[in-house]
Amino acid sequence: MNKIEFTLNHKPVSIEINPTTRLLDILRNNFELTGPKEGCGEGECGACAVLVDNKLINSCLLPMGSIVDKHIITIEGLSQSPQGIKLIEAFGAEGAVQCGFCTPGMIMASHALLSKNPHPTDEEIKEGLSGNLCRCTGYSMIINAVKRAAKEGDGLW
Ligand code: FES
Ligand code: FES
Repeated sequence: MNKIEFTLNHKPVSIEINPTTRLLDILRNNFELTGPKEGCGEGECGACAVLVDNKLINSCLLPMGSIVDKHIITIEGLSQSPQGIKLIEAFGAEGAVQCGFCTPGMIMASHALLSKNPHPTDEEIKEGLSGNLCRCTGYSMIINAVKRAAKEGDGLW
């Protein structure tokens, strides 16, 4: 067991844990942050995506030992920010949410994309969300949601 200190949604936290434990499990089981989901558990679906020092990362692949002193933002943290609120509104307005399983990861990936490229083309959105799978909505509505957020949230990113 190691003491691991990091920042979680803007608050300093620490936990005694085996450093090989996955970040996804710690978020869900120890911090009750159940927005990040376990889909594939193999880094293929993006349902577990979080930001680590502003970089989009699949938390199912991340051992706790690698996040010492890093800042983790989950969908719970992002949804408190103007950017997160704008993305959630846009996903709702465009009908881009059905079962909602992929939505936290899609929103994290959309935020990461818009942070780098505030006015993406359809192709750039497809590429930006290529690590996130949705089995129900259909990607055109998700693309429209990202475009809506970019337009209505102009200046936020
Ligand atoms: Fe992590 Fe699918 S659960 S990428
Ligand atoms: Fe169901 Fe995307 S809305 S998996």
